[in-house]
Amino acid sequence: MSETKKELIKPNVVDSDDDGTICLGESFFIDDNYELTTFTFGPHVLQLLCLQSASTDFDLTGQLVWPGARLLNEYLSNNAELLQGCSAVELGSGVGITGILCSRFCNEVVLTDHNDEVLKILNKNIDLHESSENPNSCAALSAEKLEWGNTDQLNQILQKHPEGFDLVLGADIYILQNSVPPLFETVKELLLLRSGKEGCKFILGYVSRSKMMDVMVPKEAVKHGLQIREVEGTRSVIANLEGVIYEITLSN
Ligand SMILES: C[S@@+](CC[C@H](N)C(=O)[O-])C[C@H]1O[C@@H](n2cnc3c(N)ncnc32)[C@H](O)[C@@H]1O
Repeated sequence: MSETKKELIKPNVVDSDDDGTICLGESFFIDDNYELTTFTFGPHVLQLLCLQSASTDFDLTGQLVWPGARLLNEYLSNNAELLQGCSAVELGSGVGITGILCSRFCNEVVLTDHNDEVLKILNKNIDLHESSENPNSCAALSAEKLEWGNTDQLNQILQKHPEGFDLVLGADIYILQNSVPPLFETVKELLLLRSGKEGCKFILGYVSRSKMMDVMVPKEAVKHGLQIREVEGTRSVIANLEGVIYEITLSN
């Protein structure tokens, strides 16, 4: 490769084959210029590292905060009694804004995601939060890899938490059609661990982006033996889109 070509490309993201073909390393495609950003939910102020705009790669959607998380966090900060003293697991945590807010009220929060790059920033945000020595924070926070529908990964988490969780949380986590059935498989497994006990539910911050998904999400929940209920008074406009909080439980 000529020196001029090398100078045009960041040195740490390029390699060349024996025949001189330029190979771009994966870091060439990843934007990790995270900015420390302040978010306020009622009286709660959170500072997190995140991107400000979406990556072109759909799988890196978790690098920024989505409207569903803003909606869910507003709801949770206004209804903090739902979280008080609970254990919670969050699915598709992204940068962790929901799980980290919940750590102000819960006893224990496990934040999960399937994307390794997203897990890196999620862990950084957990460290940041813990090192800020926030006197309001009381929960043990951890991050775990979890791809929806992957029972091995779920079982690994459950080995550490055999009693399951009081709450399952999710915000803006139904971007792709084919991820909705495995999402509800995982939700059902988590809810079944607490069947018979009161208070175990999946709280979903839902933002409407397509009519197809508006129909598919409740339909899949029911198909998986779950009941889905819109929480009264939560339908609102967020980032010019309609959002709502759903509570999802095992069907009787
Ligand atoms: C649109 S982002 C929402 C992130 C965060 N909850 C928020 O609202 O800001 C969707 C998140 O779900 C994760 N995700 C997508 N598909 C997944 C899957 N099949 N299993 C586990 N996580 C997944 C992504 O990595 C991403 O972090």
